[in-house]
Order: sequence, then C-alpha cells, then structure tokens
Amino acid sequence: MTQDLAPSVRPAADASRQADGWWRSAVIYQVYVRSFADSDGDGIGDLRGIRQRLPYLAGLGVDALWLTPFYASPQADGGYDVADYRAVDPLFGELSDADDLVREAHRLGLRVIVDIVPNHTSDRHAWFEAALADRSEGAARERYHFRPGRGPSGELPPNDWESVFGGPAWTRTTDADGTPGEWYLHLFAPEQPDLNWDNAEVRAEFESVLRFWLDLGVDGFRIDVAHGMVKAPGLPDIGRTEQAKLIGAQVLPFFDQDGVHEIHRAWRRLLDSYPGQRIGVAEAWAPTSERLALYVRPDELHQAFNFQFLTCDWGARPMREVIDESLAATLSVGAPTTWVLSNHDVVRHATRYGAGDGELGLRRARAAALLMLALPGSVYVYQGEELGLPEVVDLPDEVRQDPAFFRGDGQDGTRDGCRVPLPWSGGQAPFGFGPGGSWLPQPEAWAALSVEAQSGDPRSTLELYRSAMALRRELPGLGDGEMTWLDAPEGVLAFSRPGFVCTLNTLDGEATLPVPGRPVLATEALEFSGGTVRIPANTCVWWAV
Ligand code: GLC
Repeated sequence: MTQDLAPSVRPAADASRQADGWWRSAVIYQVYVRSFADSDGDGIGDLRGIRQRLPYLAGLGVDALWLTPFYASPQADGGYDVADYRAVDPLFGELSDADDLVREAHRLGLRVIVDIVPNHTSDRHAWFEAALADRSEGAARERYHFRPGRGPSGELPPNDWESVFGGPAWTRTTDADGTPGEWYLHLFAPEQPDLNWDNAEVRAEFESVLRFWLDLGVDGFRIDVAHGMVKAPGLPDIGRTEQAKLIGAQVLPFFDQDGVHEIHRAWRRLLDSYPGQRIGVAEAWAPTSERLALYVRPDELHQAFNFQFLTCDWGARPMREVIDESLAATLSVGAPTTWVLSNHDVVRHATRYGAGDGELGLRRARAAALLMLALPGSVYVYQGEELGLPEVVDLPDEVRQDPAFFRGDGQDGTRDGCRVPLPWSGGQAPFGFGPGGSWLPQPEAWAALSVEAQSGDPRSTLELYRSAMALRRELPGLGDGEMTWLDAPEGVLAFSRPGFVCTLNTLDGEATLPVPGRPVLATEALEFSGGTVRIPANTCVWWAV
C-alpha cells in the first residue's frame, strides 16, 4: 500500500503550553525586511509590505516574527550599521509603520521580536561623527575604541585583529588638518565602528533604546553579535592570520569574553520589568555548547541560536551528536534548546544539503525541517525556507551588496544569495514581491516556487510546513519537553516524545522499520507491508502513537 501523507490539520493553539513561557516552544519566523514584501514599488521590502502579508504568516502557523534591522542606516551592511536606533529608515517606512505592524501582528496572535545591534554603530551615527570631530581624544572618542597606531609614525594598526569581513579590523582616521590620526576598531566593515562597552554612557544609551522599543510593544530582541561587546583588556594580539576561521572555535580577545554576561544580566532585568514575557535571543558564536549555554542561564537571555545544529553535516551520526550536545548543554541551565537551519548570513540549507544536486538538497531540506520541528524546544524558520527556496548562486557581481563580498578574504562573502526577495505569485519577476522590481534578481524558475503556486498542493514544501506547524500545535508531545532515542538501523534517527515518534532516514537508500504508530506526516510517500514500513531515502516521518 502506498500512502501519501499531507494532512490539512489547522487546530487552534494550545493555550496551556504558553503558560510557562511562550518562547520555550515557539516557532519564530525570521523576516529579512528588505526581501520579504515591498509595498511602494522601490524594489525593497518594507514594513507596510510585511503588515500586508501578516495573514500569510498567521496562516503558516508561526508564533512570532523576528524583524531584521529597519532602523535609520546608510545600509553599508544591510542595516546592521545603525545611525539612529530610534528611527525607521525611510527605505522601510516610518515609526508609525513599525507601530502599526506590531499592533496588527498582535491582533493576529503573532509576537514581534526586533533586532538590536549593540556591538557597533554606523560611522554616520552622531556619536561617531562627534568622535571624529574630537581630535582631543576626549569623551566622544571614549565611546568607541580609538588608539594610536604602532610603528614610528603610527602607520601600523594598533593590534593584529582582523575584520570578520576580511582585512584589518582597524581603520586610520584623518585629522581636520589632513594629517593621519588615530585608528578605530571595527570587527566588521569600516562603516561599523565598535562601541566601547566599558563606557557607562554606552550602557545607559542602549538600555534607553531597549525601553523605547519595549514601550512601543515589541516582544523582545534578537541581539546581534551578543558575544562581541566586551574586548579583552589591553586588546592583545592574536598572533595569527585567518582569524575568521577561529570564530566559534575558540574564545578570542574580541569574542565570547566572560564580561559580556554582565550586560545580558542587566538586559534581562530590564526585560523582566515589562509585562508579557519579553525575551532576549543571543546571536552568539561560542566554541562549545557549554559556553553557549552560559548566555541562557536563568538570569541572562531566554534563547541563543543553535549554530552547531545549523552547521552540522547531513547524517544520522553527526546530527544525533549535535542534538544530544545541545540538549545536554541547555538542560544544564534550564533553558529551552533552539533549532535553526538557515538565516540571512548562511547558504540556504536546501542548497547546503545537496552538494550541487538541487533535488537532493530540497529532499533533505524537507526532511530536516520535520526533524527540527519535532525536536524539543523552539524553532527559527528563515523566510523562504517554507517554499524550499535554494540559494541563488549565480548573482552577477554588479548586483551584489554584501560588504563581505567586496572585502574578500573574510566571511564567505556570498550572503546575497540567501537574501533574494521572496516569490509570492505570478509567472514573472518580481513574482508579487511588490509593484516594482526587486533589489536582487529572482531566478525565473521561482515562478513554480511562489506562495501562490504551492498553496493547496499537498506535495509542496509550503503545505508540508503548514501541516507540520499545525500538528506541532495539536500534538501535546511536541514543542518544549523531553525526547528519547529509539533503536534504529544505522543511518536512521528515531526518537519518541509523549504520544509521538519521529523517524528520519538520512541514507541515500530506503530503510525498513517496524511501523511505530499511525503516520501523520511524511516528506515522501511511504510503503507498508505487514508490520513494516519502507521509508524512502532522505525522508522524515511523524507518527502518532
Ligand atoms: C550579525 C548579522 C550579520 C551582520 C553582522 C554585523 O552576524 O547577522 O548580518 O553582518 O552581525 O552586524
């Protein structure tokens, strides 16, 4: 018997599960603002565009959205270079649009998390402009890291740190009279000077900014470079090159310093002083799950992205190892684990898992999505993964905007390929993205991947996500809680949760198992005979027991 499983369950949210922290089980959808939906035809997504598409997100079944930075910015790094933390960039709308968006989301039962970028400002931020104007090395410069250069005439950078985007992490300033001056630190682009978090004014300003957005009603913050604010005293040399390769592999004098935790504790107190469970989510690259868990201790942040899961290779053994490690580490501090496969900084997983074979990549991506949504904890979905979008790998150089691409040897420099605007409908670009064009060209083949094209097709990736999220709400064993590994053949992962079993065949050939329950969702068609089920290659199945 062949059984095709694509149920159309749409139950209401389980209210009891929200009782002890909505975020512990939440599915949080990342909206990359400039690429989600464009309301005014300039080819760039905006806040009104998102508001118009909120019913789509509510129907998809997510609990919350995370909006990437929409603040006033010269856009040297896609808005992660903020010039005014309390203003909306005209590209994306006005403050009233942010207000409307949050209200409308709440009306539809969706929470809203916004990005906060505390490690650095834009070089056009009033503070940095004042620092440049202030040659006296006075108070204005103390908000950043200014240092004299090394070498006889200060012509060498103050230390050997490299920017994550490639090249030195220091840029020399020019004094008003035209002579070369001090250097300033920027772990990212030169347009992103690092703030000095030893400075009391910096700390106070960010608490005020957090209050500004909390007062507007946001449900929390995704904290950009949450591991970077504190630098080792004396800014010591690292003593080697290719430092970007060490990120997430070891503690560096500029990343994952113990001092950052005090900042997160202060922010937690602030979040807790507001009603309604406002949360903080760390974007932190730490060398081990244990060090990552420090960011989510009970008096620190609520969640941290699980990049170990994101970077894990396809395969039963590596995946099981990462799952075990992640669960053990967060359990040790009582925090929920998070699961994430893609975001705006990495190659989309539908491409990553395929190693050049798009069909294989998509098949594995669908299976990985069911795995992730069945694991204990909270899940982050990156816009477009629910459509099975691949990375766009052939963008012409002249349309690229990622600063990492232009600075060469640092971070992979290919981040534009996962930021191509979403296809919503129609047979021609921009596929309903907006009334104008789209800031990055969309592949023609995306006509078949649009929301419109996939809606109602039970075999589509979109309907798979819809069904999975609906079941996740309906089945009490999913979301936060425990899981138990079950015996399974080599290459197959099987685990149970109350009333539920998940099986993932990671092999390139089929696997035969005893039927563990009633199948409720599967990424491919299953074959049953007697008491066994044949699970095709690279397939995940959910079972009710
Ligand atoms: C984070 C963001 C990334 C940005 C960087 C600098 O890693 O996710 O997009 O370039 O911080 O702010």
